[in-house]
Amino acid sequence: MAWKTIDDLALAGKTVLVRVDINVPMEGDRVTDTTRIDKIKPTVEDLIALGAKVVLLAHFDRPKGKVVPEMSLGRLQAAVAASLGRKVVFGTDSVGAPAREAIAAAGQGDVVLLENTRFHPGEEKNDPALAAEFAALGDVFVNDAFSAAHRAHASTEGLARLLPCAAGRLMEAELKALEAALGAPVRPVVAVVGGAKVSTKLDLLGNLVTKVDHLVIGGGMANTFLVAQGIEVGKSLAERDMAPTALEIIAKAKAAGCTIHLPVDVVVAGEFKANAANKVVAVGDCPADQMILDAGPATVKAIEAVFAACKTLIWNGPLGAFELTPFDAATVAAARAAAALTRAGKLVSVAGGGDTVAALHHAGVAEDFTFISTAGGAFLEWMEGKDLPGVAALNQ
Ligand code: 3PG
Repeated sequence: MAWKTIDDLALAGKTVLVRVDINVPMEGDRVTDTTRIDKIKPTVEDLIALGAKVVLLAHFDRPKGKVVPEMSLGRLQAAVAASLGRKVVFGTDSVGAPAREAIAAAGQGDVVLLENTRFHPGEEKNDPALAAEFAALGDVFVNDAFSAAHRAHASTEGLARLLPCAAGRLMEAELKALEAALGAPVRPVVAVVGGAKVSTKLDLLGNLVTKVDHLVIGGGMANTFLVAQGIEVGKSLAERDMAPTALEIIAKAKAAGCTIHLPVDVVVAGEFKANAANKVVAVGDCPADQMILDAGPATVKAIEAVFAACKTLIWNGPLGAFELTPFDAATVAAARAAAALTRAGKLVSVAGGGDTVAALHHAGVAEDFTFISTAGGAFLEWMEGKDLPGVAALNQ
């Protein structure tokens, strides 16, 4: 890998601009999941230990180039201070005098948090003038925001071109884990792809079938593949117009030597509701007035056997309607099987995407996976085989 890490740069006495992704969910003034904030700590601590002054640049939500008070990063100042265990000095703008004053006011070991970079219209346009204003604030750029690396923005891509730059610890960990899962994995490799719609994951499926040995398809998108093969799915969610595309993916997989695994049995119910009356039927026996809400036990057994035969697993998307009990059963069972194999040292398991991480937490196994990405969109784009501009800029 061509990118530098913070160990490769001389940082003592330097002001380091660190792009982080602390785009966290909030309810009122409370951060409901601090994971993304907690994960920047290793980078911040290492930089401070190396004698640098840390200035955090970040976006929050989508203010679209305008100042939107509810999207102020000032709302996260206390949460960042609590998570880092350090004083956080807030700059009311991400450039200019307010930013410079906040940086000057920060003492040894304090952390500077600047206002939402997306308050400036130039951020999302990757405006070189805005990138130059960011660059004027510091000596070195560290990008620790893998989860925002699919955006070519002034504070992710543009800034990396203007200052000596390196990957932060979280960026490093993400890139290494993803390389181990799909770049140069130990084979055989299995990918699990679930979720509602084939149409949102076309590029991803197309790329994966050329990279992995086994592809397990679950969730609503499995129904589309079943329909494409002439199997009736009652009133299940299915994109019937995507049937030809599903057949193309099946053909591409065959040509590449990738085995696609679809459900062999399914859990059906009359309505999309928690605890709806349900039964297990063989795939193909879904009654016309019922819908498929989960994979059945025989399918789970088959998935477990595939996991046991593989050395690497990459997972994105649940196998059923995991947010509704008992239709979480297949996702939970498969996640636990993957976790057990990982704990036994037999499987490298990497997962990413908001729903997937929620499902693994729900199954109580998130800690057991080899690596859980903090990224949503960036993880998907990376699985699609796309170049992430924030990472590419580090490679210059
Ligand atoms: C995310 O939450 O996935 C990242 O922060 C990127 O946010 P965005 O989709 O608004 O660019």
